[in-house]
Amino acid sequence: MTSFDLATAQAELKEKKPRPILRAALENFDNIAISFSGAEDVVLIDLALSIRKDIQVFSLDTGRLHPETYRFIEKVKQHYQIDIELLTPDRDLLDPFVRDNGLFSFYQDGHQQCCGIRKVEPLRRKLAQLDAWITGQRKDQNQETRGAIPEVELDAAFSADDKPLYKFNPLLNWRSAQVWDHIEAYQVPYNELHQRGFVSIGCEPCTRAVLPNQPERAGRWWWETENKKECGLHVGNLQE
Ligand code: ADX
Ligand code: SF4
Repeated sequence: MTSFDLATAQAELKEKKPRPILRAALENFDNIAISFSGAEDVVLIDLALSIRKDIQVFSLDTGRLHPETYRFIEKVKQHYQIDIELLTPDRDLLDPFVRDNGLFSFYQDGHQQCCGIRKVEPLRRKLAQLDAWITGQRKDQNQETRGAIPEVELDAAFSADDKPLYKFNPLLNWRSAQVWDHIEAYQVPYNELHQRGFVSIGCEPCTRAVLPNQPERAGRWWWETENKKECGLHVGNLQE
């Protein structure tokens, strides 16, 4: 990557479909990775491999994922013959946290501290090595927190003082049905929990199935209010 002009890229990619956004990401940055967790992210992998074969993918293994999710990660690795780097929490932070607070403190104290140790700190370590990252965020997952984010942004939360970090959101303008149309049409692997009423899937204790017509993130941190339902991965969304 030599010169990347954010304002130009934002203007060119505004309201665009996933493929041109992904192409811009993968052509402008060599040192870029897909942040993988759910249905959206397999679609990103599927599309990215049609643009470039040497894609980098990582996932935050919080230690609290469903067994189905661990099986799904392996299924995706085998299906695409790719490596998915699993990032684990720092035990020097995690051990005292669990010792002092137990394994379910988030139901009383909110999820920020646990997510901070199990997700955000490992993510920060990984992002320090990258020039850009790619996520599966979509506007219609939550208009309140994701409705205003751009297709490509400067990630102010994770940029270093001397090195900007860019964040691409190629699926931003797709609705859930378009993700699932792609999964169906291209026989893309998906998490078996989706067959049991789960829509947006995070850690096991903090995710539950939703009823028909409930908002898709209603099953995430269901005991908290809507505007707190970001775990720190996308903390910039809350500052908009
Ligand atoms: S979260 O912030 O509420 O957990 P969500 O589940 O909606 O995020 O996922 C949005 C995007 O964040 C995903 O498409 C993926 O790019 C990234 N992401 C979420 N969870 C993880 C994870 N455990 N590992 C890696 N990336 C993740
Ligand atoms: Fe902890 Fe729940 Fe956050 Fe997972 S989603 S890191 S279990 S608070």
